[in-house]
Amino acid sequence: MFNKFRLGKKQEHSSTLRDKIEELKKQPIPEHVAIIMDGNGRWAKKRALPRIAGHHEGMKVVRKTTMLANKLGIKALTLYAFSTENWKRPKNEVEYIMRLPEEFLGTFLPELVENNVQVKMIGYKNQLPVHTLHAIEKAIEETKDNNGLVLNFALNYGSRAEIIDAVKQVLNDSKNGILNENDLNEDVFSSYLMTSEFNDPDLLIRTSGEIRLSNFMLWQLAYSEFWFTDVLWPDFSEDHLLEAIEIFQKRQRRFGGVL
Ligand code: FPP
Repeated sequence: MFNKFRLGKKQEHSSTLRDKIEELKKQPIPEHVAIIMDGNGRWAKKRALPRIAGHHEGMKVVRKTTMLANKLGIKALTLYAFSTENWKRPKNEVEYIMRLPEEFLGTFLPELVENNVQVKMIGYKNQLPVHTLHAIEKAIEETKDNNGLVLNFALNYGSRAEIIDAVKQVLNDSKNGILNENDLNEDVFSSYLMTSEFNDPDLLIRTSGEIRLSNFMLWQLAYSEFWFTDVLWPDFSEDHLLEAIEIFQKRQRRFGGVL
């Protein structure tokens, strides 16, 4: 039932939404937005549906959010789709989530290409099922020359493991004379992380009322603005993203200094 993923007609925005977008674009737009898409299971439970129905609905929201982020001129959108801890979930749920990139990209890739979106991924590729990795790698390859929004899937991603791996590489490079201890600083350390090609997120959004990071970009979020909402991810609308951006624009970012 849930595999019959239909995108419907090409996404069009109402004039009200277009006006809101134009209004927001008068102020600085966050360059990198990261989202912890939470609440799919609860969304399904409220409707007496299996948890996977929530993930399927959540996938549709990924599409809407991506298209709006692109229109807003956001440069990178990192979506936490599966953590290194999510393997503990029931087998059928894990298998279902691992099919979503195929389903999503199978249908949506032409639209991403058409809209100049570039697909990327952070996370441990070697544990992903071959079909999942294949779908992602195909999308990465087919969108590599695009220069619009970077849609970055955090898939089998865990921040602590990422940091430990970075430390191991630093030690190794130091041992091999590639890196001098005195040259190690925050920027250099960042270059050892999976996010080396990204600026740190300016804005982190987490849905579903949970106020925690769940092992997501612990290093990279050091100075990000956080916006939490009780809305469950499948109910996250374009207006919610616009609201988050509006609130971001009202924040004063001091990065530890004074204004
Ligand atoms: C957390 O909600 C959600 C996930 C672990 C999966 C997120 C995946 C998607 C939104 C679809 C991703 C789409 C693509 C294209 C990869 P939860 O299940 O923990 O919700 P709960 O806390 O209510 O149980």
